[in-house]
Amino acid sequence: MCGIVGYLGARPATPVLVEGLLRLEYRGYDSAGVAVLRAGKIAVTKTAGRVRDLRDKLTDDPATVGIAHTRWATHGEPSDRNAHPHLDADLRIAVVHNGIIENAEQLRAQLTAEGVEFASETDTEALAHLIARQDAATLEDAVRAALRGVEGTYGLVVLDRARPGELVVARNGSPIVLGIGDGEMFIASDVAALVHHTQQVVFLDDGELATVTAAGFRTSTLEARLTNKTPTTVDLAADDYELGGHTDFMRKEMAEQPEAIARALRGRLDERFATAHLGGLGLDPMALRAVKRVKFLGCGSAYYAGQMGATLVEELARIPADAEPASEFRYRNPVVDPDALYVAVSQSGETLDTLAAVQELRRKGGRVIGAVNVVGSAIARECGSGLFLHAGPEVSVASTKALTNMTVSFAMLALLLGRVRDLSASAGQRIVTGLRALPGHVERVLADDADIARIAKRFAHAEHMFFLGRVRGWPVAREGAQKLKEISYVHAEAYQSAELKHGPLALVDANMPSVVIVPADDLLAKNLATIEQVKARGGPVIAITNAELPSGLADEVIRVPRGEPELDPILLTIPLQLLAYHTASALGRDIDKPRNLAKSVTVE
Ligand code: G6P
Repeated sequence: MCGIVGYLGARPATPVLVEGLLRLEYRGYDSAGVAVLRAGKIAVTKTAGRVRDLRDKLTDDPATVGIAHTRWATHGEPSDRNAHPHLDADLRIAVVHNGIIENAEQLRAQLTAEGVEFASETDTEALAHLIARQDAATLEDAVRAALRGVEGTYGLVVLDRARPGELVVARNGSPIVLGIGDGEMFIASDVAALVHHTQQVVFLDDGELATVTAAGFRTSTLEARLTNKTPTTVDLAADDYELGGHTDFMRKEMAEQPEAIARALRGRLDERFATAHLGGLGLDPMALRAVKRVKFLGCGSAYYAGQMGATLVEELARIPADAEPASEFRYRNPVVDPDALYVAVSQSGETLDTLAAVQELRRKGGRVIGAVNVVGSAIARECGSGLFLHAGPEVSVASTKALTNMTVSFAMLALLLGRVRDLSASAGQRIVTGLRALPGHVERVLADDADIARIAKRFAHAEHMFFLGRVRGWPVAREGAQKLKEISYVHAEAYQSAELKHGPLALVDANMPSVVIVPADDLLAKNLATIEQVKARGGPVIAITNAELPSGLADEVIRVPRGEPELDPILLTIPLQLLAYHTASALGRDIDKPRNLAKSVTVE
C-alpha cells in the first residue's frame, strides 16, 4: 500500500528518496512523486505508473531535503494530479500521507467555501491547505493545530518552504519510522526503506508528532507533551530485502521456508514434557486451562492460516476453535466471550481490519494475543503479547513463508493447549517429532519444482480451476485458490469436497481442472471418491497427496512426504505455492507486483 520516504542531510536528497521508493515498491502502488526544496522553492515531480517512470522524469538535483511517496488510490483515480506530494495554494507546504482522512469531504467543502481551489481529488490535499492556514509559531504547531480538526488515519510528512532545515512527521494508525544517520535523518513508512542506511530507528506511536532535523529529532504528542523516545536497533540486514540471485521475491521466500520454520521452532520445543514453550504468550498454565474457546482473526492468507490453526487446536486440544475474517468480525458487533482466547493473525501487523478487530476486542474486555511477523508493528503493540512468527521480512505480495510460519506457530500453540489438558505425552511427542521433521520435508517438496512447473504449464491455459478439500484439506484448498487467483489472475474457486455435488459439479468438464487435496488420513476413501466424481464428468484432476493413489486415478499427482497427520495442512500448502507461481510465470505475470493488490492493506 502507500509508501513514504523522507530525507534531510548533506547528500542530494533525490537519489536517496527514489532508492527508498524502489524498496517500498513491493507494498503495491499505482503512482509516485517527489518534492525537494531547491533555492527556496518546492520542486515537485509526480507520475502515474512506476517509480522508474518517476526516475526518468527527474534530473540531477543538489537539494538535500525532500519527501517522496508511492500512492495506492483511495480518493480519486491513479493519475499525475492525484499523486502525492500535495501542496497548498501558495506552494509553501508539501505533504505526503498514508491512510484515509475520514472527514475529507467536510474539510474540502469548508476550505472551498473559504475560497481554496483544489488541484486534486484527494483527501491529502486538504491537509496541505489546512496546515498552511494555521497561524502558528512553528511548523510542528501548525501541523498539530491542523490535525485537531482531522478524523481518520494518517502517517504523514510535511515540508515547509520557509523552514528548509526541518521536516515534521505525524502518526495515527499508519506507521512512521525515523532512521538515525550520522548528520542525516531518514523517514519512512516501513523499515525496508531504511535498513541499508541505518539500523537505529524510532517508531512513532499513534498520536505522536516529530520535528526532524539533520542533527536529530524531537517527539511529542498531539497535546504538545514531549515524549522521550530512545532509538531501537532493528535486527534486519539490507540483503533481507534483496533478491540475492533469485528471479523474484516470491521464489526467494518460498526457498527460505525450511530455514524460516527452523527459526520458528528454535528453543520452543520441549522433548522432556512433549510440549511447546511460548514465552511471549504471557499465559501461565492456569490461564491456558481456563481458555474455553479459541478464535483466529485475520485477512487474506492470514485468515486461511487461522483456519488451519483452528483445526489444529480442535484436534490437539479438543477446544472449540474457529477462524473469521477480521473485517467481518469488527463490523458485526461481535459477542465477545470472556473465556475465549482471540488470536489476531497478521504478517505485517498493519492490516487495518485486523487492527480494528483487536481494538474492538480490547474495548470489550476480550483476551487477544497477536501472531505477527513484524516486531513493533501496530497489531503487535496493540496486543502486547503473542506469538512472534520469525519468518524474516516478507516482500512478495503473495504470502508464503509467513503463512507457513503462522501454521507452524499454531501447531505449537495447539500442542501447548493440548498438553495442559488431556493430550497424552506420547501424542505430544509425536507432534514434536513431526514439527522437527518439517524443514526437511519442505525441502523435499521444493526439490519437486521442475515437475510442478511442468504440471502448471500443462494447465496454465485453463480459465477456471476448482480447489477441493475437506476438513484438514479445506483451508489448504482455500489458500491454494487464493494464491492462484492473486498472482496468475486465473479464476479459482475453493470448495469443500462433499459440497461439490450440491451445485458446483455442474461446472465440471474437460476445461475445468480440479486440484484435489488428498491427505493420507481417515478421510482418504472419501477424497478418492471426490476424484472419481470429477473424473466421471471429464474433469482433469491434479492430486496433492501424501498417500498412495490407485494408478491412473488422477491426471497428475504431486506428492509430499508423509508426516504426522495433524500437520499435513502445513506441508500440503507448499506445492500449491509452486503451482500458482509457475502458472503465473507461464502466463508472463509480474509475480511480485500482482495487479490491484498491496502487500499490506492499511485501509478499510
Ligand atoms: C494483503 C496481502 C495478502 C495478506 C493479507 C493480510 O491482502 O496481499 O497476501 O494475506 O493482506 O496481510 P497481513 O499482513 O495482515 O498478514
